[in-house]
Amino acid sequence: MRCLITGVAGFVGSHLSERLLADGHEVVGLDAFTDYYAREQKERNLEGSRAWNDFSFIEGDILQLNLPALLDGVDWIFHQAAQAGVRASWGCNFSRYVDCNVLATQRLLEAALEQGSIQRFVYASSSSVYGDTDALPVSESSLLRPNSPYGVTKLAAENLCTLYHLNFGLPTVSLRYFTVYGPRQRPDMAFHRFCRAIIERKPIVIYGDGQQTRDFTYVADVVEANIRAATSRTAVGEVMNIAGGSRVNLHQVMQYLRDISDAPISVTFDERQHGDVGHTFADTTRAQQHLAYRPRVSLREGLAREYEYVLSESTKRAATHSAS
Ligand SMILES: NC(=O)c1ccc[n+]([C@@H]2O[C@H](COP(=O)([O-])OP(=O)(O)OC[C@H]3O[C@@H](n4cnc5c(N)ncnc54)[C@H](O)[C@@H]3O)[C@@H](O)[C@H]2O)c1
Repeated sequence: MRCLITGVAGFVGSHLSERLLADGHEVVGLDAFTDYYAREQKERNLEGSRAWNDFSFIEGDILQLNLPALLDGVDWIFHQAAQAGVRASWGCNFSRYVDCNVLATQRLLEAALEQGSIQRFVYASSSSVYGDTDALPVSESSLLRPNSPYGVTKLAAENLCTLYHLNFGLPTVSLRYFTVYGPRQRPDMAFHRFCRAIIERKPIVIYGDGQQTRDFTYVADVVEANIRAATSRTAVGEVMNIAGGSRVNLHQVMQYLRDISDAPISVTFDERQHGDVGHTFADTTRAQQHLAYRPRVSLREGLAREYEYVLSESTKRAATHSAS
């Protein structure tokens, strides 16, 4: 299949690209290298994909590119591009979230419709559509009340996908990811910050009291869900939770990190941030039904892989500094 991945230089998009290429597909990747985090990290994310002949890369913004030309011959679209980050989505930054998350998705949906032969449009939605709730686990029919401007934009784009399916028959599938982690995780995300603090022998900063719980999902499980969403016939038009299957609080995460790093860890607590939610935990029955989805990677194993990644990145950085 010829696949378009938006946000291919990002955390999830780069893993998805490598998996599709390894499975024998052709990948057209697009990314604007937005400045939410360093271009350098995104360029490194792309290295694996660039090694394949079946990979082509287009640098540009979805809102600026000639999408009909880009979609020529494309069968599957995996729309991963977004302005990520819950905490940064307040204030004057919001217009950027509207542009990258809502307007860009609408433009891509229109172009997909116009192209006329898209076989699947998989949208990266988010657990943030549920907001702060104690009614756990959340299923797809739970109340949707985002707790951050970011969540509002992810939900708006998800609703657009469903609308294009219901009105025009565009074969969309929305996957609501629950906190994704693993190698290449964005540097603003908790596990990445925690691993880096340990390696740099600095205190780990936890927002809130550490009792917050998350249903953490390993990136390879999210990638697998995307591929199944593209191939399952019954998935068309669906919205599904994609989660890791276990709910842990940050104190338990600290314990794992102590074991994995074998290093002393000091933790400081800071105020809970606006937009953060207390708990997330998913009912994944629907993804089991439509995708035969089951998370494969345990938190202990996935966290160890992320720690190794952050350590190797830090070693490379140190080598570059000492050489220059
Ligand atoms: N990482 C998570 O825990 C998580 C959880 C829920 C949902 N999601 C969703 O999954 C997707 C991938 O997240 P991620 O963590 O890999 O983020 P990321 O920031 O690493 O990757 C997103 C990429 O999209 C690109 N991009 C943004 N706007 C663009 C535009 N207008 N045109 C072209 N490229 C653009 C950015 O440059 C970036 O490389 C996002 O849609 C995000 O909302 C992620």
